Amino acid sequence: MSERIAVALTVNGESVARHIEPRMSLADFLREELELTGTHLGCEMGACGACLVLLGGNAVHSCLMFAVQADGEQVETVEGLSQRQAIADIQEAFHANNALQCGFCTAGMLVTAHELLSRDVALSRTEIRDGLSGNYCRCTGYQAIVNSIESVAQARAAITDARSKSD
Ligand code: FES
Ligand code: FES
Repeated sequence: MSERIAVALTVNGESVARHIEPRMSLADFLREELELTGTHLGCEMGACGACLVLLGGNAVHSCLMFAVQADGEQVETVEGLSQRQAIADIQEAFHANNALQCGFCTAGMLVTAHELLSRDVALSRTEIRDGLSGNYCRCTGYQAIVNSIESVAQARAAITDARSKSD
């Protein structure tokens, strides 16, 4: 067994520190050490998007990173996004549009949707589809997921528009 390494990072706003195997992935660290099982593991090779989390605000594949590479970083998982209500409207839209079935892909979809919508709310359907190109869903056929993100984009754009008119 290899020597354990100290790692300290912030996950969902809380400082965490552990001694871990140097080869432990960030995904395994989140799931096994912190019991944050919302982050799923599908392909474990960067292809399916089930393991996406935010690192310093950018979506990363936690299956492709060693946890020690996140030392000193800020990580946010789908649990953190949900707890701080950052994706409440996206979750509601997924529910309303039946955008999940087995739910295996959903955490990654929500992280991607959050990142897309944080960058820009003026998203076309093509841009939404392109943005989801790294997220696999074996159940839904994607249409309902695209519809959900499109509806949130339109709702957020309307709120921004109303605010700018009232200023
Ligand atoms: S489990 Fe990481 S991309 Fe599939
Ligand atoms: S809802 Fe089953 S994989 Fe997407």
